[in-house]
Amino acid sequence: MAREVIVACDFDSPHTLTTFLDLFENDKPFVKIGMEMFYAGGPEIVQAVKNRGHKIFLDLKLHDIPQTVGKTMRVLSELDVDMTNLHCAGGSNMMKAAVEGLTRADGTRPLLIGVTQLTSTSQEMLEEELLIPQSMPKVVASYAANAHQCGLDGVVCSPLEAQSVHEELGKSFLTVTPGIRFTDSAADDQRRITTPQRAYELGSDMIVVGRPITQATDPVAAYTRCVKEFTR
Ligand code: C5P
Repeated sequence: MAREVIVACDFDSPHTLTTFLDLFENDKPFVKIGMEMFYAGGPEIVQAVKNRGHKIFLDLKLHDIPQTVGKTMRVLSELDVDMTNLHCAGGSNMMKAAVEGLTRADGTRPLLIGVTQLTSTSQEMLEEELLIPQSMPKVVASYAANAHQCGLDGVVCSPLEAQSVHEELGKSFLTVTPGIRFTDSAADDQRRITTPQRAYELGSDMIVVGRPITQATDPVAAYTRCVKEFTR
């Protein structure tokens, strides 16, 4: 699968999103629609972005009992997005129900990836707040192995973990990596961060980049820089 730069369009209104996409005259970036945008614009905004010719990663990070997640995935399968996700922390039964729910009658389905640990989570938080007494790489590796076993296509993880995920679970198991910052941009609330170039070197398949592009003075230039650094 070709490497992709996905733009996290974390806006609070459909109008802001379409105004942002209007800036891109020559490119059709892969768009991530997250909770904020989906709760504001609903399925209609997904359709509108699709009609403009963009690929869509619907990032709703489902995490609930297996039946609820399975039935919700069935509804999402009808939105014709290219990729969606869930939290691996929901467990194996939930992940299997999700794969089943997402699969359409003709056997096709969007890519399904699992969130291992949020890139805003530090080792300290893992141990002291979540009471998980393991190292971050160990937790990520274990969640990723569960996701692989349940038939997911890949995981969301930090670029710092992409290499070991590929070593353990194979090159075709996708690593989708947020926590991307240029050397000269602010870290914001992200903790485990790398540059697009370093993410490339570490073997990320897809990088998810939000504020370094959406908040840039020239978003199109920032996107182009990202694509150049990441895909070479
Ligand atoms: O603005 P920024 O580049 O930090 O945005 C990163 C995006 O990736 C956000 O939309 C965030 O929800 C998402 N994300 C993340 N860490 C994960 C999973 C998703 O930052 N583990």
